[in-house]
Formats: sequence, structure tokens, C-alpha cells
Amino acid sequence: MTKIQVWSVVSLLGVALGCGRGSLAATTTVSVSSTASHPIPTSLYGQMFEDINSGDGGLYAELLQNRAFQQVTPGTTGALVGWSATGGSQISVIKDTVPVSSALPNSLQVTIPSGSSGSVGVLNSGFWGIKVDPTWTYTASFWVRFPSASSFSGNVNVGIRSTTGTVLAQATARVTNNNAKWSQVQVKFKPSATTISTNNNFFLTVDGASWGGQTVHFALLSLFPPTFNNRPNGMRVDIAEALIEMAPSFFRFPGGNNVGQTVDTRWQWNATVGPLLNRPGRVGDWGYANTDGLGLLEYLQFFEDAKMEPIMAVWSGYALGGTNLAENQLAPYIQQAIDQINFVIGDPSKSAPAALRASLGHPAPFALQYVEVGNEDFFAAGTYPYRWRDFVGNLTAAFPQLRFIATTDTFNPILSPNPLQYDVHVYQTPTWFAQNAFFYDDFQRNQTKYFEGEYAAISTNPNDLFGTPADGRLTFPTMQSAAGEAAFMTGLERNSDIVFAASYAPLLQHVNGSQWTPDLISFDAGTVYKSTSFYVQKLFSLNRGDEYIPSTLPSRTGTLFWSITRATAAGNLQIKVVNTASTAGSLSFQLPFNNVASTGTLQVLTGPETASNTPETPNAVLPVTSTISTGKTINYSPAPFSVSVITVKAS
Ligand SMILES: *[C@@H]1O[C@H](CO)[C@@H](O)[C@H](O)[C@H]1NC(C)=O
Ligand SMILES: *[C@@H]1O[C@H](CO)[C@@H](O)[C@H](O)[C@H]1NC(C)=O
Ligand SMILES: *[C@@H]1O[C@H](CO)[C@@H](O)[C@H](O)[C@H]1NC(C)=O
Ligand SMILES: *[C@@H]1O[C@H](CO)[C@@H](O)[C@H](O)[C@H]1NC(C)=O
Repeated sequence: MTKIQVWSVVSLLGVALGCGRGSLAATTTVSVSSTASHPIPTSLYGQMFEDINSGDGGLYAELLQNRAFQQVTPGTTGALVGWSATGGSQISVIKDTVPVSSALPNSLQVTIPSGSSGSVGVLNSGFWGIKVDPTWTYTASFWVRFPSASSFSGNVNVGIRSTTGTVLAQATARVTNNNAKWSQVQVKFKPSATTISTNNNFFLTVDGASWGGQTVHFALLSLFPPTFNNRPNGMRVDIAEALIEMAPSFFRFPGGNNVGQTVDTRWQWNATVGPLLNRPGRVGDWGYANTDGLGLLEYLQFFEDAKMEPIMAVWSGYALGGTNLAENQLAPYIQQAIDQINFVIGDPSKSAPAALRASLGHPAPFALQYVEVGNEDFFAAGTYPYRWRDFVGNLTAAFPQLRFIATTDTFNPILSPNPLQYDVHVYQTPTWFAQNAFFYDDFQRNQTKYFEGEYAAISTNPNDLFGTPADGRLTFPTMQSAAGEAAFMTGLERNSDIVFAASYAPLLQHVNGSQWTPDLISFDAGTVYKSTSFYVQKLFSLNRGDEYIPSTLPSRTGTLFWSITRATAAGNLQIKVVNTASTAGSLSFQLPFNNVASTGTLQVLTGPETASNTPETPNAVLPVTSTISTGKTINYSPAPFSVSVITVKAS
């Protein structure tokens, strides 16, 4: 049975307003209800994350690339990604006969030839550069071992220098042979440089004359800038702040696709916790090794710092590469999912994973309400019925308080137990999003709820959505794509009695090493670039209100969309207006309230159809805030390709 909000459409061919292109816009009158139809779920807006050149080299603040030679083949050029020799050293990645740890079998072997002079050693390029900020204190560390015992000792210089060789920051540490055993060195330093730059390398060098003839092994080298909330092994400050600027309620992790390409390379929580020396890393799903330095505890600590809750995925017996486990093979993976959840919320006195969490400094459980069973299992719908049944059966028995999200198409196949949450994904054109603003209006109102877990307008070409920019694929969100998404989001708000969460995807991309476009936020070694879609997410999230106020419905086939919410504590009505057309619109909102302030606040994001915020034009389209005159009637003419929020006190 479908609940239909009945509001008479009063479309008046009223005052004809001239607009930019000389056409006439008929005014649409929008009657606003005095009472709310449903609360806005506090979980409504959040973020979708997976390591798609966005964890390592992105949100995770580590500055060195390939810092621990994880998941590489020793002896190959590929094993040296990020690294190069300087001053005549000979370098290679070796499988060490005495590894620094069993999880990190590989070391960087550096030979300083006899007769060397000057600075000799290695460079690391970082993730397409290393940022020098004169105000930062850096922490560099590495493990070092000489392959054979001697009485040798010498100085090692570590720091940051420009790609042309100017030293910008450095520190010196004394290293002794230590009977051919591993020892760890840590130094802190501040740049001597006085300007910000990113075209830099990390260096680790020795004096060739005094070190000539020595061979040294290095493992787990690291360079950290200050981190968000000063967490050791934490997050990059500017990226974390950009995420928090959108006031997200949730963070979907660890994938997405990054839950597993093969059974063996699936994301396993227990390989991501504890000392970095114990983390083997894994071959991620996007063509590069993940360090797992951004591990389960680091994620959880970040969510707590950022005041958001995880929507956490567990691997559910299907690998993206095509492997589907048989039902009689599932038991150990179900146990691993139980352990993963216990690490997050278990009682340390009853569960070993929870006791591990306590031993790592967080005895209290983290917040967790939603667990996603797999990812995009519509690709493996044939086996999902038994996988869903066995995972959810066991997980519900262990954690009756949790809610489980299914990842197949809604109601296809039929699953038992009947999912009460589905994760719905859509990558489409801006036009599709506008035309589907009523997507959820026709869904039955019953106990089943929806997580719009991945959505983005990615192409202007409906016949080649995933093609190339030449065929319409977007490299960055545009004003048109952002307006299309915003139109769709007015529908998410109207249907937030059944849509409990929504997140644009993907969240982050490094512009120099990207696997997918467009993305909500782009960044490089030094700067964060916020897209038009970012500002739409921010406008909706910060103005989401706590109640939905019904109003005359927009036309299902039109180009003007709106959604009205109320922030009850502040006494504010929030009127969101989206125009997806190339001509201005004309709307007249009729408010049934006795006390409406004579002025309100207007926030508008608008720009040319194809305008994008890019590294070259980072501020092409920005929201502009102004004052708007308001009253029981609010006339508003939304600009072409615009997303507006009118905030007015009304009671
Ligand atoms: C990164 O990408 C930007 C934008 O395309 C480009 O200007 C820059 O040179 C690239 N940097 C590196 C280190 O490749
Ligand atoms: C993680 O736990 C699984 C069992 O659930 C085990 O097979 C695997 O070896 C463990 N990995 C690490 C790195 O401890
Ligand atoms: C738990 O998983 C096992 C192994 O797949 C399965 O046989 C059993 O039926 C499941 N239990 C419940 C309650 O679903
Ligand atoms: C809700 O309605 C859909 C569509 O008819 C149905 O498939 C689903 O099973 C229903 N959910 C519940 C919990 O009954």
C-alpha cells in the first residue's frame, strides 16, 4: 500500500517574469503544510568511503608512498614504487633473511659503494609530492639493520628536499650496527624553509665518504605531518576538515569494492589493527597495495572525533573477481564478521576482539547500528539468498540490536529473513537524477528502509555512462550534475520516512592518481578542491532540519524541485529549491504560519551548466549567502542551474 502525499497542485499562469533568455516563466504556487509529515532521520546525510586512491595518500596522513614494501615482489622495479637512489647508491627491495616482522618480510637494501662521497641514499616521492609547511613539525621514523655485525656507526640525515635538491627540512640521527639486529630510529623536525611547497621528496642520506662499503637494510619508513586531532597514525588535517565541513552523520566503510577482489585479498579487520609492524597490507581492489595503516581502530577513532557513526561492511562470501563461496564454506567467514563487530562493540570481559580493542586504548564500545552484508551483491544475486540467510541469521543471534543492510537489488531475489534495509546504488546522468526525483515516492511504506549508498551524476551521455570524457563522462562534477543530484535529493528528503541514509560516491580522489571520476572532493599533495557536488551535499546536510513539511509536489516531468524542512529548535523553515533548467524559474511559496520573519537567509549555488571546481579553477562555483525578504508569501526566482536554500523563522 502506497502512502501518497496529497497536495493540490496550484500552478498559476501568473505574473510572467522576463528571464535571461527572454522566455517567460509561469509562476508555480507552492502551498506549504502547517504540520510535519515525518521526522528527518538524524542519519540522513553521510559519506561513502573506500580506499580508491583516497586512504593511502589521501585521508591517511602518511606522506611516504610504499613505506614498508608490502605486497610487492622483491627484486622488481615495481617493488621500488615511490623510491629512487641518490648519490650513487644501489637499492633494491629484498625478501629479508631476518625480516623486521613476520608481517613485513621485505626490506629496502641500500649499498653505499666504496669510494663514495657527498650525500648518498634514497629518495621517496611521496604521493605525487610531499608538502612542506613551515608551521608543521614532522615525525620521521624507520627501522634499520646491517646484514652483518661490525662496530660501525654513523649519522643518517632524514628530511625533505625540493626535487631540484634544495634541503627544506632535516634532522640527523646516529645509527650503530647493533650486532646486525633491527633498531628503530625516530626524529622530529621543523622545516627551515619559510614557504609552502609540494614539489618535494623525502630523503634519507648518509655521508658517502664515511659510509662507503656499507650495506644497510631499512624497513617501515614513515613520515608524518601533524594529524587531525593530533592522533598518532592519524588523518590528514585538510581532508578530514573538508569531510567534517559537510556535517556527515555516517561513514560507510571499508568499502565499497575494497572489501575484496579475491577471497585471499579480502579486507580482514584483524590484519589492520595493532602495531604497524604487524600489518601485512593487502592488494587493494583498485590496482595498488593498501598499507592498512588506516586500520579498523584508526577509522573508528576518526568517526568518534568527527561525531559520525560507521555503516560498516562485512565480507559476505563473494569476491568481486567472481568467487562465490558455497554455503558449507561460510562458517569461518561468518566468525570473522562476528569478531570484526565484536572489536567495534563487544564487551572486553566476554570477547577476545573486544579485549584487544581495550588493550589498544579504547575499552568503551564504539557506536555502531548498521552493518552492511557485502557490497553490490546484485553481481552475485544467485548465491546471496544463502549467504544473506547464514550471515544475518548468525549475526542477529550475536547482535540482536544491530540492523543489517542487504546489497542486492530491492526485493530481487526474495531474501529470507526479509531485509529491513537495502543499499541502493546509481550512477547516471544529471537528467536521469532530475527525472527520478520521485524514485522513492512510489515505494511501499512498510518496514523496509533504504540507504542510497552510492549515487552520482557521472556522465551527460545516457548511452555511454562509464565511457570517456570525450563521450560525456565527467572528470569533475559540474553545476549541471550537481543540480541534477540536488533535484534527486529533494526526493530523498520527501521520502526520508523510508530513506534513512544517503551518500554521494566516490568521496575522494587524488588528482594525480585516480581510478574513478567524478568525485566529491579532489586533492593533491598540498590542496583540497571542493566540487559543485560537495557544496550541494554541504547545503543539504547543514540544512537538513528535523521534520519534513509537505508542500505542493513539484511536477514529475519538470525542471524545478523543492523540499521544505523545519529545524524545530531554531524555529527555522528551510526551503530548498533546485532549478535544473537553463532558464530561471518562478515560485511562490504560501506559508500557513502566523509569524513569518520579514527577512531570511538565502544561500545559492549557481553557475554555468558545465562549470566545475578543478585544480585550475578551484573556486569557479561557490555558494553565496545573502538576505532575502520573506513573509507569508515568498516569491523566488531560482537562477538557471541553481541550488538554493531559503532559511526563515516561521511559527
Ligand atoms: C598533478 O596533477 C596536476 C593537475 O593535473 C598537474 O598540474 C601536476 O603537475 C601533477 N603533479 C604531479 C606531481 O604529477
Ligand atoms: C585474521 O584472522 C583470520 C581468521 O579469521 C586468519 O586466517 C588470518 O590469518 C588473520 N590475519 C592476520 C594478519 O592476523
Ligand atoms: C550460521 O551459519 C552456519 C554456516 O553457514 C549455518 O549453517 C547456520 O544455519 C547459520 N545459523 C543461523 C541461525 O542462521
Ligand atoms: C515492503 O514492500 C515490498 C514491496 O512490495 C516487499 O517486497 C517487502 O517485502 C515489504 N517489506 C516488508 C518488511 O514487509
